[in-house]
Amino acid sequence: MNEDTRGRLTRDGIRIYSEADYAGMHKAGALAAQILDEVAEHVFVGQTTGAIDAFIQRRVEEENAVSATIGYKGYQHASCISINHVVCHGIPGEKKLKDGDILNIDVTVIVDGWFGDTSRMYVAGKLSRKAERLIQVTHDALMLGIESVKPGNTFGDIGHAIQTYAEGQRMSVVRDFCGHGLGRVFHAPPNVLHYGRAGTGPVLEEGMFFTIEPMINLGRPETKVLSDDWTAVTRDKSLSAQFEHSVGVTSDGVEIFTLSPSGKFHPTYG
Ligand code: MF3
Ligand code: CO
Ligand code: CO
Repeated sequence: MNEDTRGRLTRDGIRIYSEADYAGMHKAGALAAQILDEVAEHVFVGQTTGAIDAFIQRRVEEENAVSATIGYKGYQHASCISINHVVCHGIPGEKKLKDGDILNIDVTVIVDGWFGDTSRMYVAGKLSRKAERLIQVTHDALMLGIESVKPGNTFGDIGHAIQTYAEGQRMSVVRDFCGHGLGRVFHAPPNVLHYGRAGTGPVLEEGMFFTIEPMINLGRPETKVLSDDWTAVTRDKSLSAQFEHSVGVTSDGVEIFTLSPSGKFHPTYG
């Protein structure tokens, strides 16, 4: 399962998939997004992140899919749940959600060997104005990045669109984590940076599948990983948000594989 021999590789080592492969990605992406839709009602004050993860794991199993994260480099959960100043890779556990917490829930499923990887933001209780702004800017930064995906543009164009927008809103882009190619494997070339210069980096071609998953901070961009070897936090403890879609480059633009079936990608459904 963990090998990829389809199509061809570009000079940058990026796999070019065939037209038939989009259907596989679409199915995997749709399941990941469907599960994130269903998760919304499990997010409330007093709920533990472990209970949310248990729900996700059960849903993956019910759909006869496979969790890509359980067993990945020793990770033991069906999701990453990253609260407030946690940037990414928060480990689900006994911690209870508090009023005003914002959290990213990141799910990756494997369906018929294809990987669907998506994450979005949720809120427990009442959303503060500054958290609301961070979530909105992060969501819009991702969508601007996706809008710059089409054959002939470059990966640098994606990063540039995200960085220019986020920094223009006086927020910062995390440099220590990036998006990635995916398809029949979880993480493949290229590294999809969420910052960069227009016109730099590999040229986008039809048949490329990858994630865009910007992490945006209200404060400084620096992160550190806690002693559990997974949880990444902002060094200055400022709030961080993230949204992630899995996408494919089409002949004239982009297909988003992880669209929410019921339009719930943004936490205020806007
Ligand atoms: N889903 C994450 C990503 O977007 C990776 C999580 S790996 C894990 O690439 F092991 F932490 F789950
Ligand atoms: Co990802
Ligand atoms: Co992810």
